[in-house]
Amino acid sequence: QQDLARRQVQAVLQAQQQQAGALLPILHAVQDTLGYIPDWAVADIAQALNQSRAEVHGVITFYHHFRTSPPAAHTLQICQAEACQARGSRALTAHAEQALGCSLHGRSGDIGLEPVYCLGLCATGPNIMLDDKLVSRVDAARLDRLLAGVKE
Ligand code: FES
Repeated sequence: QQDLARRQVQAVLQAQQQQAGALLPILHAVQDTLGYIPDWAVADIAQALNQSRAEVHGVITFYHHFRTSPPAAHTLQICQAEACQARGSRALTAHAEQALGCSLHGRSGDIGLEPVYCLGLCATGPNIMLDDKLVSRVDAARLDRLLAGVKE
């Protein structure tokens, strides 16, 4: 399977490495293809672009968007934008962090915890997305029930 992944990364590199400012588009393409950016791909990317691994790694860690390990099977996103904050999303986030035992951008078992900035339903916050399901007016008890459903 890694052979296939490696060929996919090589295809991305061949298509894009000559372009100016290729690093970010390449990182996006690799993550879109593999779901994350493995260590070995960092080495391949660095070599193709004549950069050091540390430089490529620095860019990856600067952007929260990029993952260096496989994504969790489930993602809980909690809206951190202003209207949801006014409706308690900070306390809800703190509750989620405690319940899961990880912080935002972290992961607990099968569940990744991520911030999101506005889900377009500001009047009915705090809003969350659990995988592809949008849920409004979420309080701690409701979040616990939703998480229990995922863990079953
Ligand atoms: Fe949370 Fe808009 S601020 S949905």
